[in-house]
Amino acid sequence: MQAEKGDKQRKVLLVYYTGTYNTRFLTDRIKERFEKMNYAVDRVEITSSTPAVRVEDYDYVGFGYPIYGFNAPRPFWRYFKKLCIPRGQKFFIYKDSGETLALNNASSRKLLRRMNRVGATFCGEYHFVMPYNIHFAFDEKFIRQIVQEDKKLLDILFYNLSHGVAPEVKSNVFYDIAAVFVGIQAIGGAINSFFYKVDSKKCTRCGLCAKNCPNGNVHLTDNGVKFSHACDMCMRCSFHCPQKAIKIGFLEGWRVNRYYDLSEIWREDALAEPYITEKSRGFYKCFVKTFREIDLRHEKISSLTE
Ligand SMILES: Cc1cc2nc3c(=O)[nH]c(=O)nc-3n(C[C@H](O)[C@H](O)[C@H](O)COP(=O)(O)O)c2cc1C
Ligand code: SF4
Ligand code: SF4
Repeated sequence: MQAEKGDKQRKVLLVYYTGTYNTRFLTDRIKERFEKMNYAVDRVEITSSTPAVRVEDYDYVGFGYPIYGFNAPRPFWRYFKKLCIPRGQKFFIYKDSGETLALNNASSRKLLRRMNRVGATFCGEYHFVMPYNIHFAFDEKFIRQIVQEDKKLLDILFYNLSHGVAPEVKSNVFYDIAAVFVGIQAIGGAINSFFYKVDSKKCTRCGLCAKNCPNGNVHLTDNGVKFSHACDMCMRCSFHCPQKAIKIGFLEGWRVNRYYDLSEIWREDALAEPYITEKSRGFYKCFVKTFREIDLRHEKISSLTE
């Protein structure tokens, strides 16, 4: 996979959607790794106005997205439909989410089906855990452990790409059907946006929410911040509001306003004491198996590359 001296420089395209920037963060880490191997890398971040890109110019295409309601986000689909994928196109998937329930596995079924239909070449699928941007904020120590596991998964991704290994994240009919029913974001965003509210006492009119909404759905007016109804529930406006002034309708009880300096955490070494252990239970139980599997796969590739 290494681009060799004298060869035409190989190119990678990373097409991704992100709400609160976790997926952008992962995309940047993947970009860095490709660049170290002398690949030219283009990133396309999906917004409602992103023009279609020419996929056929690239050796690999990586599709990245956060999992929303056990599915790929709607904006990802709207953009994907604009792309013309050539037969044989090599692609891989990197997706991320707050937990590792097996239902999340269904989130790539549609993408895999469509890529398979056009005869594209599957080069692997990877599910990264990232801090929740909805529901509740993760403990700092837990985030540190997540990031350590993500670094290992990234090593595995690149080892596999180099060695022509293409792992699948397995779904089944039960998960697929359940995911269709839980696709809350499909209509939830438009309905919920009628109930978004800004606390005028807290809001400083900094304009960040209006500037950053990927749908152009937030407007700073003389009468304060107003929302249209083209929301995809990405949570960017409320998550990053410096004043915690945005209330998110029927999901208000699940609002998370928390800035994590992932770049800083990424530079840290392994934790002395892990947050998730074999004894973790309840919500945290699903991470035990996921982290154990990543650790084992990582140990294996480390022993093969020594
Ligand atoms: C509307 C919505 C639905 C979500 N659904 C799920 C889910 O089904 N499973 C999950 O593990 N995480 C879910 N999450 C959490 C995100 O997948 C996770 O925080 C992700 O890293 C966010 O990435 P981003 O910052 O690139 O948007 C959801 C988040 C949002 C906003
Ligand atoms: S980001 Fe928050 S403080 Fe800034 S304009 Fe929007 S609601 Fe107001
Ligand atoms: S209004 Fe807020 S939650 Fe909706 S798409 Fe825009 S930034 Fe995302």
